[in-house]
Amino acid sequence: MIKHSASAPTRREFVLLAFLFISLLWISRANFSVRESRPSSLLEEEFIEEHDVSQDDVPSTEAERWRTRVSSKRIPTTRIVSHVPGWTIFDNLYLLNGTVFIVSDEPKQVPDRKTIISTAVKIDNGDVAVASRLPTDRELRVISTDDARELFGTSPALIDGATWIVNDPPQFITHYYHWSAELFFGFWRTYSSLDPFIPANGSSSLPAPRRVWFAHADADHWRDYALMNQWVLRSAFPSLSAEYSADWQDRAEMGRPVMLDRVIFSDRAAAMNGAEFLRTGRIASEAFDLPGSVHWWNTIRSEVIKFSGLDGQIGAGTTHNPVITYISRQEWGRRMLIPEDHEKLVGELYNLRDKYGYEVNVVSMDKLSRVEQFQLAARTTIMMGVHGNGLTSLVWMKPSPRATVIEFFYPGGFAHDYEYTTRALGMVHYGVWGDKTFTHPDTPPAAYPEGFQGNSIPVNGEVVARLCLERFGLSNTADD
Ligand SMILES: *[C@@H]1O[C@H](CO)[C@@H](O)[C@H](O)[C@H]1NC(C)=O
Ligand SMILES: *[C@@H]1O[C@H](CO)[C@@H](O)[C@H](O)[C@H]1NC(C)=O
Ligand SMILES: *[C@@H]1O[C@H](CO)[C@@H](O)[C@H](O)[C@H]1NC(C)=O
Repeated sequence: MIKHSASAPTRREFVLLAFLFISLLWISRANFSVRESRPSSLLEEEFIEEHDVSQDDVPSTEAERWRTRVSSKRIPTTRIVSHVPGWTIFDNLYLLNGTVFIVSDEPKQVPDRKTIISTAVKIDNGDVAVASRLPTDRELRVISTDDARELFGTSPALIDGATWIVNDPPQFITHYYHWSAELFFGFWRTYSSLDPFIPANGSSSLPAPRRVWFAHADADHWRDYALMNQWVLRSAFPSLSAEYSADWQDRAEMGRPVMLDRVIFSDRAAAMNGAEFLRTGRIASEAFDLPGSVHWWNTIRSEVIKFSGLDGQIGAGTTHNPVITYISRQEWGRRMLIPEDHEKLVGELYNLRDKYGYEVNVVSMDKLSRVEQFQLAARTTIMMGVHGNGLTSLVWMKPSPRATVIEFFYPGGFAHDYEYTTRALGMVHYGVWGDKTFTHPDTPPAAYPEGFQGNSIPVNGEVVARLCLERFGLSNTADD
């Protein structure tokens, strides 16, 4: 039963009320820091004219400089900041219903659609497969500002900062090599083209990307079996958040337009239309047609190495004691050296250690922890091993005049994967066929002869040891 009372407030109630009143007064007078800070959403910028930026509002950070101020009258056009097949940087890119929209009144200036995006189906060989990857209006449309106003209204929601959109199927993402030495590698090569003066220590003025959107991979299909992909991404960009195919779907199904400040858009199938890809078979090679610092990768390398607990610049210079690391696959079960050749090679490397004092490591990468793998690679001057995923670690070596990768192939066999990657970082690569060595530009064509994947790959340990000495500028003393 509720007791109704019409009596005057008690003394206790009065005190409470007074307290509430004073608090309210105090709160309303205090200035919330939120109101003081720069507006980061469209809410308060919506009605600012594009060029009506007073002196006080001159953007102070790189990220703010990109920001297009949206007026109530017009829809900002999309700017293609840079583009090569498979890798495109956009400002003011629109998304609606899962479709990418480029708003432009000069559609002829927009690159061929198939060099930007694909249908993101699984990548197979053959004409039918190639045709199935060709993008349609479902994937990407180029529309005029008039059409945009009609389609979007005047207030698409703004998504600020830099967003990396990965349009690939999971097929190649879930592999340490294809992630660290292709997709992430190409992404950073593309984005870092906006800062072509990155110094040797890797410091860059570029704002870190805020988020990555995997349009077609779910949360369980971007990691690799060795759990390296997530380490690389999370250590390079600790604040980055990730969205996956279900989130992409969520946003599409809302049927409302969004405008992204800046997008680095990557698409493997689109990159495969490029001339560089046809030469190297590497999607990242397309991005090397953009401007860039020779130290472009050091930004990523030094963050990843610091995260693993070492100095980000470790391995630099040519005066410290060289570190030779042989990544053995002899316990892996596939693509292994002839056992005696492996033993002989190890013996020759230990001779170098005993004679010259080099540090020599013979390791199976899958037996090391992730931290150990990053630390060892970061300290390594010469890395060697049979063609395989273990060599992906070469991306954590410090490029220097001595830094070298030596890759063993079954004679007649060759693949560009590690050779291209080594050179892209400014290091030297040697291929070895038994007792024959070769290096760029005298590399053979890619070939996978019988025996390539087998366990009888020959290698001459003496030749490899001599090559190490040559790389350290000591080849003459080897003859004494
Ligand atoms: C609140 O902000 C105004 C204008 O920014 C300022 O003049 C005033 O002193 C501030 N008041 C307090 C309590 O900080
Ligand atoms: C949204 O996408 C679906 C396909 O997923 C398509 O059938 C539909 O027509 C699209 N709606 C608009 C407004 O484009
Ligand atoms: C990196 O190098 C640049 C130019 O050499 C220098 O200005 C900057 O202070 C260095 N940054 C760090 C963190 O050492």
